[in-house]
Amino acid sequence: MCLLLLLLVVAMSSLWLASSQNGLGCESSCGNVTIAYPFGSREGCYYSPDFLVTCGQSSTGEPIPFFQNISRNVVITSMTPSKSKMEIQMFIASDCYNRSGPTRDQFAYLRINDFRVSTKNRFIAIGCDTHAFINGVLGNDTISTGCISSCASKTHITNGSCTGVGCCEIEIPNGMSSFTMSIDSYRNHTNITDFNPCSYAFLVEEGKYNFSSNDLLDFRSDQKMLMVLDWAIGNDTCDMVNKEAHSFLCKRNSVCDQSYAGPGYRCRCLEGYEGNPYTEIGCKDINECESKNHGCVHKCNDKEGYYECSCPKGYTGDGKIDGSGCRADQSLVIKIAISTSAAATFLLIFVTWSYFGLKKRRLMILREKFFRQNGGIMLQQRISGDGGSRDQARVFTINELKKATNNYDESRIIGKGGFGTVYKGVLSDNRIVAIKKSKLPDQTETQIEQFINEVVILSQINHRNVVKLIGCCLEQKSLYWCTSSFQMAPSLIISTMKVSH
Ligand SMILES: *[C@@H]1O[C@H](CO)[C@@H](O)[C@H](O)[C@H]1NC(C)=O
Ligand SMILES: *[C@@H]1O[C@H](CO)[C@@H](O)[C@H](O)[C@H]1NC(C)=O
Ligand SMILES: *[C@@H]1O[C@H](CO)[C@@H](O)[C@H](O)[C@H]1NC(C)=O
Ligand SMILES: *[C@@H]1O[C@H](CO)[C@@H](O)[C@H](O)[C@H]1NC(C)=O
Ligand SMILES: *[C@@H]1O[C@H](CO)[C@@H](O)[C@H](O)[C@H]1NC(C)=O
Ligand SMILES: *[C@@H]1O[C@H](CO)[C@@H](O)[C@H](O)[C@H]1NC(C)=O
Ligand SMILES: *[C@@H]1O[C@H](CO)[C@@H](O)[C@H](O)[C@H]1NC(C)=O
Ligand SMILES: *[C@@H]1O[C@H](CO)[C@@H](O)[C@H](O)[C@H]1NC(C)=O
Ligand SMILES: *[C@@H]1O[C@H](CO)[C@@H](O)[C@H](O)[C@H]1NC(C)=O
Repeated sequence: MCLLLLLLVVAMSSLWLASSQNGLGCESSCGNVTIAYPFGSREGCYYSPDFLVTCGQSSTGEPIPFFQNISRNVVITSMTPSKSKMEIQMFIASDCYNRSGPTRDQFAYLRINDFRVSTKNRFIAIGCDTHAFINGVLGNDTISTGCISSCASKTHITNGSCTGVGCCEIEIPNGMSSFTMSIDSYRNHTNITDFNPCSYAFLVEEGKYNFSSNDLLDFRSDQKMLMVLDWAIGNDTCDMVNKEAHSFLCKRNSVCDQSYAGPGYRCRCLEGYEGNPYTEIGCKDINECESKNHGCVHKCNDKEGYYECSCPKGYTGDGKIDGSGCRADQSLVIKIAISTSAAATFLLIFVTWSYFGLKKRRLMILREKFFRQNGGIMLQQRISGDGGSRDQARVFTINELKKATNNYDESRIIGKGGFGTVYKGVLSDNRIVAIKKSKLPDQTETQIEQFINEVVILSQINHRNVVKLIGCCLEQKSLYWCTSSFQMAPSLIISTMKVSH
């Protein structure tokens, strides 16, 4: 019974120890500042005495967090365990004079062991008879650095410019811990006390102070500046620390990070996670898809520690705006392209073919109609009835005449008038002929018969004074074509043709 109770007590105490070691149930706040592991404000909730944060009260009754072991006046304004940094209010050094001489000289210091002055800070001095120093602890060494500003008037002072006229600044070395800031003057501010009675020096986070000419005259020496402190765990670096030990503080989804000068190691959440890497469940998955600039073209899928972009069905690619994006599947594209172009080509061929086919057919029908109207059948019968000798009149097609006249070329015209137009033509058997294109008025059945008779008779006449009719073309409305041998004067041809009609 007693043994059981003892075991229970041991189990419970170890449970309590584990939970406090992981910072569970230890998180607290003081005013606006959240105090999270490895910092703590209660026994068992902080990693080492240096991480003990005390919540006090300002003179106005506001809660103010500070480090008991450092200084009651150094107020913590924010803590960021994910970046292993914190922001504090640090006082400034000053050195004041009046016409008779020095009135007040005040230096400022900070004693820190487990913390380091972040390189995000700048050491700044303001004044016109000023040389400011900062002495710091860097490992086993003590270093001293600073800057000088000297000016006889306000003439060349520029707001926002801290380059040696009324204001000077320097970067600070990496890994500095405890430091002291002090100021001296060369001439006791003689002749300049009217516009610059005091010199000031301070450490401030970059961008948190802009120089103004007004500060030379009126800068409160009880003012505090925001500066950044880095911190690390223990004395061992990432290479040296036993990562298997329970005391190793880089917990789930975090890694040991040695981007830090000075002893100790720091923890950092893995990419895709954020939070406090010094606690068991501190590094939480970032839902990248909630951010507007996740860079997915179509759909964003959050995964544990990362995210993926996906494309709609039938599309491939990494789905990222700056990647390959989402493109329709190659096979699908080709299929669609081929079928579309094939269909289009087919349609084009079909339409063209139908159009020209139809046009040709209609032309043929028309030609046949005129051929009949103009007595073509009758003429054919008469010719074949007479035995069909070479000298007889022939029926030409319109295409034959087109070819013979080089498509009624202007240069081929040899006569023109109310009767029609006469062209010079070359037949396919190289005979040179005259081709007359004349208007044929609407005719009755008997008139056509007479005309055909004339054609047949004319073609049979063989006299040197009479032009011989070779044939005619009947395939066009109101126009018909006849060809004659071309050895005689055009006037004669025409008169003969007149006779023929
Ligand atoms: C806390 O935050 C509020 C609002 O941001 C601010 O007005 C207040 O001064 C802050 N208190 C302290 C102690 O910094
Ligand atoms: C302050 O630091 C000293 C050693 O520098 C240490 O002995 C003391 O316990 C610390 N005080 C607190 C309250 O942690
Ligand atoms: C200068 O300051 C001292 C001490 O603060 C004071 O006694 C003295 O009167 C001041 N002199 C002038 C000229 O203001
Ligand atoms: C600092 O001094 C200690 C003790 O003298 C020594 O062991 C250590 O190596 C020194 N560290 C450096 C960086 O010199
Ligand atoms: C600097 O700015 C302050 C106001 O912030 C102004 O009163 C002063 O005259 C300016 N000084 C110069 C040199 O521009
Ligand atoms: C500055 O004032 C101190 C104290 O009054 C005096 O000892 C020193 O000589 C003065 N220096 C100059 C350069 O006036
Ligand atoms: C201060 O001004 C006076 C008069 O203009 C001059 O004689 C003296 O040298 C100046 N002192 C300094 C330190 O510039
Ligand atoms: C200093 O000036 C910059 C640019 O002029 C501005 O962005 C910044 O907010 C200023 N900082 C402070 C503390 O006034
Ligand atoms: C770091 O080492 C120093 C001596 O080198 C020792 O006094 C201090 O306690 C160590 N700090 C931790 C957290 O182990």
